[in-house]
Amino acid sequence: MRKNLISIGLLSCLLWSCTSSTSAPDDAATSTTTSSTASTAQTSGTSASAGGGAGGSNAGGSGSTSAGGGETNEGGGGGTDSATSGGTGGAGTGGADTGTGGMPDEGPKNLAEKYASLFPIGAAVDSQSYMTHAALLKTHFNSITAENEMKFESLQRNENSFTYDAADRIVSFAVTNKMKVRGHALVWHSQNPAWLFSNGSGGTVSRQTLLTRMKNHISNVVRHFRGKVYAWDVVNEAMMEDGSYRTGNLADGQKSRWHEILGESYIAEAFKAAHEADPDAKLFYNDFYNYIPAKQQGIYNMLKGLLDQGVPVHGVGLQAHLNIEPSAVTTNQAYHQNVANMEEAIKLYSSLGLDVQVTELDISLYIPGVTYNQSTFYTTATFTDALKAKQAARYREFFELFRKYKSVITGVTFWGIADDNTWLSEFSSGRKDFPLLFDLNHNPKPAYDAVVRF
Ligand code: XIL
Repeated sequence: MRKNLISIGLLSCLLWSCTSSTSAPDDAATSTTTSSTASTAQTSGTSASAGGGAGGSNAGGSGSTSAGGGETNEGGGGGTDSATSGGTGGAGTGGADTGTGGMPDEGPKNLAEKYASLFPIGAAVDSQSYMTHAALLKTHFNSITAENEMKFESLQRNENSFTYDAADRIVSFAVTNKMKVRGHALVWHSQNPAWLFSNGSGGTVSRQTLLTRMKNHISNVVRHFRGKVYAWDVVNEAMMEDGSYRTGNLADGQKSRWHEILGESYIAEAFKAAHEADPDAKLFYNDFYNYIPAKQQGIYNMLKGLLDQGVPVHGVGLQAHLNIEPSAVTTNQAYHQNVANMEEAIKLYSSLGLDVQVTELDISLYIPGVTYNQSTFYTTATFTDALKAKQAARYREFFELFRKYKSVITGVTFWGIADDNTWLSEFSSGRKDFPLLFDLNHNPKPAYDAVVRF
């Protein structure tokens, strides 16, 4: 349930409009989240369109989905859609060549191999999916990111008590299968334990203590995974859509307490601490909406400033939570969501000599700015062949871009493996999404074909 609430907050921004920071949409269950939740939700209120969206008026009401697959509640209509409940059983189906659903029999069978000379292909996994989706992972991916298991609240829930078990299991799966591991994420405004920003007696932690806590966390975590995690998202989502810093002057769940208490210097301090703990690790700044011109410029300016000061930053992560088409609403962030704008971001960042990685790729069926409700939430029945083809075309155009920049792109990671386990469907409202290359039964979709045929 906690994951569901968190995601609702994130999605209220990703899927609707986030161009102005006013209040959360009426329906957003974000208001019920704790301060350690929602990250990207700089929600705006244009969301008349948000009504009935993911947060939905029924958020928290209906049966929640489970992160480990096996989701059964299809949209608002309720009822189990047995045809779609791939659940954990799909793990045995393995490789791409078992495909049904309109996939041609011929063609490349292995994603990572197809891209071997270009860049590694990764997937975000959780503490279940690296097992339930092991066959797909082993066949198609050669890099892994822990979806939640390396975040602050997962690794240091209580002060100075580090819990590495879940993350270690994921890392050891990767090592056994000769996969790279990206670490995600050391410093973020979201998914932090309550003690972190507290002085223990009801007040806010002092500047000096928070800096010490941050460095201590980074030092312990980066040393623990040294030699196994080759790249870290050191700072995540520190910038806003207008190119300014994410500050403390935002709603809970969206504001950065790091910035509020430490000022922008926390960013440089975090990178220095990570570099000290593992001089060999590639250190990334990671963020979303890089296609918005003002935001990409803000990120560029920040990174240039850091590099000019000699701060060890090595790359930029483009989250790339995309949608099947750009928003038609000019004030919506996703109005700017096109290949040309993404290309500008890649050019800009790489002009600083930085690596670029696509770190959290998925393509949602929902169009930001459009109103959805229980009757228009997608189901396996309404995810038609035409829509599959449209999603495939969108994947194709972005991968053409990634291949064009193979000299600076050093990794492309999907935020999930198959449609039966995606954060975009983590809603108690039952809103399903189908954003990845593999379907509910772990078979390749037309999107897979679009990505491997070139
Ligand atoms: C998401 C996870 O996928 C969810 O399971 C969790 O509930 C919230 O966080 N940007 C990020 C990721 O950097 O860490 C987020 O992951 C998605 C948005």
